[in-house]
Amino acid sequence: MNSLAVSLILLLFGVSPSSCTPPEGCRNVPGSAGYPSPASWTAFNATIFGRLIEAVPTPKYCADLPGGPCTDAQWSSALFRSQNPGSMVSDNVEQGYDLTPPSLCLKNATTCGQGDVPLYSVEAEMVEDVQAAVKFASAHNLRVAIKASGHDVPGRSTAPHSLLIRTRNFRNLSFTDNLVVGSQDLGPAVTVGTGVFNRDLFQAAKANGRFVLATGVATICAGAGYVQGAGHSPLSPQFGLAADNALEFKIVVASGELLTVNSVSHPDLFYALRGGGAGSWGVIVSTTFKTFPALNGTSVSIVLATSNTTATSALASLHAQHVFDLDPVRGGHYLIVTQNADGGSTVILSGKLPNASAARSKALLAPFVNASTALPGVTLLSQGYTYGDINDALFVADDTAGGNVVAGSRFITPDAYRQSPEAFGSVYQELLDAGSPLILEIVVGGGAVADNTNISSAVHPGWRTAKSLFFIANQWEASASLDEIDAVRKQFQTQQLPILERISGPNAGSYSNEGDISEPNFMTTYYGPNYATLSATKAQYDPNDLFIVAMGVGSERWDRLGLCRA
Ligand SMILES: Cc1cc2nc3c(=O)[nH]c(=O)nc-3n(C[C@H](O)[C@H](O)[C@H](O)COP(=O)(O)OP(=O)(O)OC[C@H]3O[C@@H](n4cnc5c(N)ncnc54)[C@H](O)[C@@H]3O)c2cc1C
Ligand SMILES: *[C@@H]1O[C@H](CO)[C@@H](O)[C@H](O)[C@H]1NC(C)=O
Ligand SMILES: *[C@@H]1O[C@H](CO)[C@@H](O)[C@H](O)[C@H]1NC(C)=O
Ligand SMILES: *[C@@H]1O[C@H](CO)[C@@H](O)[C@H](O)[C@H]1NC(C)=O
Ligand SMILES: *[C@@H]1O[C@H](CO)[C@@H](O)[C@H](O)[C@H]1NC(C)=O
Ligand SMILES: *[C@@H]1O[C@H](CO)[C@@H](O)[C@H](O)[C@H]1NC(C)=O
Ligand SMILES: *[C@@H]1O[C@H](CO)[C@@H](O)[C@H](O)[C@H]1NC(C)=O
Ligand SMILES: *[C@@H]1O[C@H](CO)[C@@H](O)[C@H](O)[C@H]1NC(C)=O
Ligand SMILES: *[C@@H]1O[C@H](CO)[C@@H](O)[C@H](O)[C@H]1NC(C)=O
Repeated sequence: MNSLAVSLILLLFGVSPSSCTPPEGCRNVPGSAGYPSPASWTAFNATIFGRLIEAVPTPKYCADLPGGPCTDAQWSSALFRSQNPGSMVSDNVEQGYDLTPPSLCLKNATTCGQGDVPLYSVEAEMVEDVQAAVKFASAHNLRVAIKASGHDVPGRSTAPHSLLIRTRNFRNLSFTDNLVVGSQDLGPAVTVGTGVFNRDLFQAAKANGRFVLATGVATICAGAGYVQGAGHSPLSPQFGLAADNALEFKIVVASGELLTVNSVSHPDLFYALRGGGAGSWGVIVSTTFKTFPALNGTSVSIVLATSNTTATSALASLHAQHVFDLDPVRGGHYLIVTQNADGGSTVILSGKLPNASAARSKALLAPFVNASTALPGVTLLSQGYTYGDINDALFVADDTAGGNVVAGSRFITPDAYRQSPEAFGSVYQELLDAGSPLILEIVVGGGAVADNTNISSAVHPGWRTAKSLFFIANQWEASASLDEIDAVRKQFQTQQLPILERISGPNAGSYSNEGDISEPNFMTTYYGPNYATLSATKAQYDPNDLFIVAMGVGSERWDRLGLCRA
């Protein structure tokens, strides 16, 4: 190659021969010349006190369980699955559909491939374990995966042929009245390890008379992927997003260094960790959140049944007309529409109304409830209003695991609701007629989420102007063929998004934590105008792309599996 060609390549790719770049091309996988030898793995294992475990898919873990195969109850329990480093909450994210040939391990299968499940897991118990793992992975050019709960819908907490760094054992929780950052006292806060499940966070907060903004899902880890995506909750209209309440992080970055990150120490990384996307920055050990005095409120659950999609459509339009009814108390709610086999749906309005009494909550919802029962084909099955500590209201003991789920989402503005509530009905009608099994309107925008607009963070600005996140989930049965699965995985982009865009508009953003990994314009869809800043921060802290996840910052340089440079 002549020198002109070399300088052209340097210019185009920014590769400097003197800098420490990784080998061009691919990660080392078993069989590659640079893959660690068995002796090298053994030596590494010794440095982390034997905390290196061979990761196995859930079906294999279940089959090999001492005392017989696991029960169906265990299979469907997220808490049970959290005992196995290789288990994810959804079955489909363990499967290697995109490997050639596909590598699967299905429930009760007699043969079992490793699929997208990591090969080894570092069951980190100390910061030093994480540091050793990061340095080992970096030295051997390995694909790294990071996992706290395995709850991630897009499946970013696992990767084929990878070394997993699992932070489930970081379960310290400590409350303080005075978090000092720089010379400033930021007041009451809690530091949560990245293995702390929300169920345990709410219990600890209650015991301390405090509230921490998080969501009512038992096994999500607030300090890990949740906060890095943004972190919404039915309490968000009152207290903002999780990212808005994050005051400090302790994180092991690609160099192996442990950094304390806050508004004065590494402020660029602080910006990125608050909304800039999960899994792209390093391994977080703990996150410190602002706390609030414990408060009471009312949990609302209204269950309705519809006879067909016309009735569901009318109910969705009515809901759109009433979507602002909880604003006076900064209440957040979900509208959950599950289509039944007969074309009718079960429609649940589930909400949390901070400070409001049960009577006040019932009065706020009465106009919607009354009008809904007047619609043809709509039946009110039940309504409940329970007043008590919000920590109890958000506490859930366990989550259901073991399905096959993919999803996509878009932000919806208040103007969309105001201008044409009927458009919501027609969007539901079309989505349901096209066979969509599960639609959620996550109405958690406005209030404090909008008030926090001027916080400097990577939270997608679409959150600040949204009334809701419209979320569509698609599913398949364990018996589905690979062709059927492929079609369901494409359903959001090919079929549902064009319908949804009638209310979201064509360029609406979306929430990466509840997004579709096939999003073609992932940089703008998930990061909006923040991508360039995030890219620069990535180059600063992870110059060799050790931490790559699907649709994460820097992933445009890699193939879909993060195994080879694109
Ligand atoms: C049933 C269900 C309900 C949900 N409800 C909500 C909700 O109400 N509000 C909301 O905002 N989201 C919700 N989500 C989405 C949720 O935010 C994501 O699943 C999120 O990724 C969970 O974070 P996690 O760390 O627990 O999951 P994991 O799957 O363990 O990790 C998710 C991502 O974070 C990265 N990560 C994990 N641990 C670390 C670490 N220690 N350091 C750095 N990166 C790490 C992973 O690499 C991955 O990219 C829901 C999801 C499900 C399945
Ligand atoms: C790591 O060492 C521990 C303790 O000796 C052992 O139980 C474990 O199997 C080892 N891991 C691997 C992958 O060999
Ligand atoms: C798997 O095997 C267990 C135990 O034999 C059984 O209870 C369960 O129903 C089986 N599940 C499926 C999906 O076949
Ligand atoms: C957890 O807390 C204990 C006791 O304060 C401390 O020794 C340990 O280092 C902490 N672990 C982490 C990962 O911060
Ligand atoms: C919450 O309600 C309980 C029981 O009604 C009451 O004892 C407590 O003082 C209330 N707490 C707050 C913060 O209002
Ligand atoms: C609810 O109570 C909390 C705690 O007392 C208070 O900070 C908040 O302003 C109240 N919110 C509303 C909407 O009344
Ligand atoms: C709703 O209906 C109930 C029972 O018929 C009635 O008491 C109440 O006044 C109605 N509320 C509104 C807001 O229409
Ligand atoms: C839907 O249900 C309503 C109420 O039961 C009924 O009047 C209507 O004819 C049905 N529409 C269709 C298309 O079946
Ligand atoms: C954000 O800052 C701008 C410019 O200073 C200001 O006009 C706007 O009112 C602020 N918004 C909020 C919600 O505080």
